[in-house]
Amino acid sequence: MAGIELKVISKHYYVENRKVSVLNGIHLLIPDNRITVILGKSGCGKTTLLRLVGGLEKPDGGEILFDSSRKTAFVFQEDRLMPWLNVWDNVTFGLKKQNCDESVIRGIIQVVGLGGFEKAYPNQLSGGMKQRVSIARALAYSPSFIMMDEPFAALDYFTREQMQRELIQLQQTHGISILFVTHSIDEALLIGHKIVIIEEGRIKSEFTIDTDLIHRDLLDAPLIRMKKTILDILGKG
Ligand SMILES: Nc1ncnc2c1ncn2[C@@H]1O[C@H](COP(=O)(O)OP(=O)(O)OP(=O)(O)O)[C@@H](O)[C@H]1O
Ligand SMILES: [Mg+2]
Repeated sequence: MAGIELKVISKHYYVENRKVSVLNGIHLLIPDNRITVILGKSGCGKTTLLRLVGGLEKPDGGEILFDSSRKTAFVFQEDRLMPWLNVWDNVTFGLKKQNCDESVIRGIIQVVGLGGFEKAYPNQLSGGMKQRVSIARALAYSPSFIMMDEPFAALDYFTREQMQRELIQLQQTHGISILFVTHSIDEALLIGHKIVIIEEGRIKSEFTIDTDLIHRDLLDAPLIRMKKTILDILGKG
């Protein structure tokens, strides 16, 4: 099948015997070979949605249809590195020896800007560097589908811009499908083929942007208009 389909997904938790409804009636198609961005305020259910799509949790209602043969990688909101392993070993952790092509791994570490830090341990890295190790680890797995939960949130403006460009390049070269969570409207407009706005566990709006990702400019009139619309939607929340 083409992509991942979420049909009337709901999810709730119990906190001190009180039912907290987190996702409600989510209907969503995550297309193949595209970047789908989930955009929403803190606490609206973005990470929960990602965990359900990644099969880390089960929905309480509805179903998720996908091709189970796809190779999926996850970049979590927190870095989740092994403190006792250096950068190289964290990146190659979980790879079978035969899949561990040294020059490919070296290239990936270079792409995320960590060349020269292969032997460093997580406690010798900044928060942003640790997050980039997590991204490298996901890429090393050569996935066809990557789920990323606010992966660039800890990065400075320039590194973030560079990583956004690299991600676009990677997606275009390898035709990877990406489900990307952010609360930055600009980031969503820059990297998204599809932007899904979530509010209080429901899909509030969906946008499709047809312009070429490589040449996208936030100052183009249609993107400025879209930003205003999104601000309006989120502001009314
Ligand atoms: N395991 C859990 N038990 C109870 N409540 C939970 C659990 N996980 C999430 N929640 C609740 O679900 C809601 C959505 O959480 P979620 O982590 O999906 O938000 P988010 O959109 O990713 O927020 P952020 O942008 O801050 O990361 C929150 O109200 C949170 O308290
Ligand atoms: Mg989250």
